[in-house]
Amino acid sequence: MFVSGGTAGNLSALIAARWRWRQRADGRLDRVRGLVVASSGAHSSIVAAGRAMDADVVKVPADADGRLRTEALEQTVAALDADDRERLFAIVATCGTTNAGVIDELVGVADVCARLGTWMHVDGAYGGAGLAAPSVRARYAGVERCDSFIVDPHKWFFAPFDSCALLYRDPAAARQAHTQHAEYLDVLHQDDDTEWNPSDFAHHLSRRARGLPFWFSLATYGTDAYRDAVETTLQVAKDGAALVAASPHLELIREPELSIFMFRRVGWTAEQYQQWSDRMLRDGIAFVVPTSWAGETVLRICVVNPRTTVADIRLIVDSLG
Ligand SMILES: Cc1ncc(COP(=O)(O)O)c(C=O)c1O
Repeated sequence: MFVSGGTAGNLSALIAARWRWRQRADGRLDRVRGLVVASSGAHSSIVAAGRAMDADVVKVPADADGRLRTEALEQTVAALDADDRERLFAIVATCGTTNAGVIDELVGVADVCARLGTWMHVDGAYGGAGLAAPSVRARYAGVERCDSFIVDPHKWFFAPFDSCALLYRDPAAARQAHTQHAEYLDVLHQDDDTEWNPSDFAHHLSRRARGLPFWFSLATYGTDAYRDAVETTLQVAKDGAALVAASPHLELIREPELSIFMFRRVGWTAEQYQQWSDRMLRDGIAFVVPTSWAGETVLRICVVNPRTTVADIRLIVDSLG
């Protein structure tokens, strides 16, 4: 199913998760507020989904790299009281966090979800595309055990806005969670409900064919071209980070695990970062906005365009001198 973006994908997946949780309770939890567990490194749309669904989101402190570790997840779950444990309907892991681009411990998260019987949602809005690259594929081990997964072709799969692919392990559950009923709609559904209607798998009815540009590009260029393009961005990020590390006026804070790396400009204030970033955007050179890491204003480069070269990164590095 395709929806507008990661925010809509996460919300739709979590609605399906909550539906399954309530359905299993056979009416007992229909009026009980649900609870989601997610890492402090998870994207803001998880909290937004919690607000929209009137569900609580309990944050697991990520480690110093911004990664959700199994041990911390176990501790957070163990610290829930019996009522909260019963309210838990989904655990969210991220493969490619927005700020640092790290992959959570997916195998551990899958084990915890299996033990608790809880829905595992994986947000790969940005980083899911890395699955196409053999050089990093092993880092995603465990993703195949999730109940739902999203990846935004409009991020690191080079598609135009706006497109998020949303996948379910059990589409039947998602269909029951999302299908709308009305006089004018029910006549369109077959009695046995075997018909596949994209409207039934997310929080929407009318939509455009959001998967079409992505499909057309895949059909035209083939998956090998996608593999090569993602590998190119990974290599440019690696080489770009090395360039930063070798520059006396810059300090590399985080090596890229995927295609994001962070660094500081020695001696700069938050205001100087902002002024530089505004200038780079105004001059059409780069879109690199300041972010924060461990409370400090820093810079973060995210390479998602295979046409970005190391020479482009050098332009950025030189402009910071
Ligand atoms: C991990 C992650 N999830 C969700 C989103 C939200 O995606 P969208 O802007 O398409 O709603 C983002 C956006 O950067 C993201 O990085």
